[in-house]
Amino acid sequence: MHRLTIVGTGMGDGETLTRQAERAIEEAEFLIGGRRLLAPYPDKPHLVLDRNLDQAVAYIADHAGNQRICVLVSGDTGFYSYASYLLSRLPQGVEADLVCGISSLQYLCSRFYLRYENMAAVSMHGRRGALLSTVSANLHTFVLTGGGFRAQDVCRLLWERGGGGLTVYIGERLGAADQRLLSGTADELRRLSFDDLTALVVENPLAGRAYPSEEGLCPPLLEEDRCADLTGGDMVLEMAARVRGEALCLTEQPEKVKERCRAWGRYNIEPVSREALPRPLDAVYAGEDQAELLLELLEANPRMRFTLTGWDRERCRDLARELEDRGISFRCFRRSRLNREFQEEDGLYIFCGGGIPQ
Ligand SMILES: C[S@@+](CC[C@H](N)C(=O)[O-])C[C@H]1O[C@@H](n2cnc3c(N)ncnc32)[C@H](O)[C@@H]1O
Repeated sequence: MHRLTIVGTGMGDGETLTRQAERAIEEAEFLIGGRRLLAPYPDKPHLVLDRNLDQAVAYIADHAGNQRICVLVSGDTGFYSYASYLLSRLPQGVEADLVCGISSLQYLCSRFYLRYENMAAVSMHGRRGALLSTVSANLHTFVLTGGGFRAQDVCRLLWERGGGGLTVYIGERLGAADQRLLSGTADELRRLSFDDLTALVVENPLAGRAYPSEEGLCPPLLEEDRCADLTGGDMVLEMAARVRGEALCLTEQPEKVKERCRAWGRYNIEPVSREALPRPLDAVYAGEDQAELLLELLEANPRMRFTLTGWDRERCRDLARELEDRGISFRCFRRSRLNREFQEEDGLYIFCGGGIPQ
């Protein structure tokens, strides 16, 4: 079996390189890595990694038998690293040794005196919705920027969703001589410009605060659902807490929705107008005023899960007939409400449906 070493180089400045990593690089006969990480070793034969990941794998396949090859990765090998890509594509007959390094998460947290045992992490190379839902659910979210989405874009997105007052801790070119450390509100920092090589932490003091929604009224949601509250009300707060992406809120008053988001520390809510409502959707919450829109959405996705609540018996009966005619599966319940004197008031009709064909 031939061996290959993958080394986490810390911040790539030499200062944060472990002794073990230093030794592995010294003993290597050939280095593979990004230009920044190779810069301190100009005399070693090397291959510059850019978008040529396949070329690197091919080189390893051809030379691991007669050369000590060392692959340099930034930060640690186990944290959003090229190391995982390489490990999943190691040529036959080659085994890798990993040398761990100091990750950008550890380094940045130490600069700002932040603890990270409960910190969530997301990469902006992924979906932006994951950032907003993670921020909404966690006191601290560590964010790797890049892939065309820089620190100022993260701050702008938070600000757009009512999170302009959230504190953000930013580390640019960590470990380098021109390292920049800045903290401030998302609103302040969205106006600046940051390098691709930047990481940050968002602090949301209201994270995970439970919204006291009426039990059982939220349609069943899966993490990846495209969901919407058509009433423009508060059910969207509950939906946002359950999905991994974003929950849509149909409203003509986006500023009012933003205010609610701020009050509850939820930033993965997108106010949309009726015209901008995307189709198909996976799940919606509606009131009797949106019965017509609900039927329209069910045309785009007959398996869409929904809850509709209404007080008007006639309108609810019409809706039930319409759903039956269209072969949409549903159940209708009635739930009474207690007034302040604890007397029962009129019942609320609750339609739960979709998901499976009738
Ligand atoms: C592919 S990820 C690699 C993460 C790395 N494995 C780690 O443990 O930090 C690349 C991203 O990490 C962050 N990063 C890595 N090194 C950094 C540094 N020296 N300064 C700031 N951010 C850095 C940036 O967000 C960059 O876009």
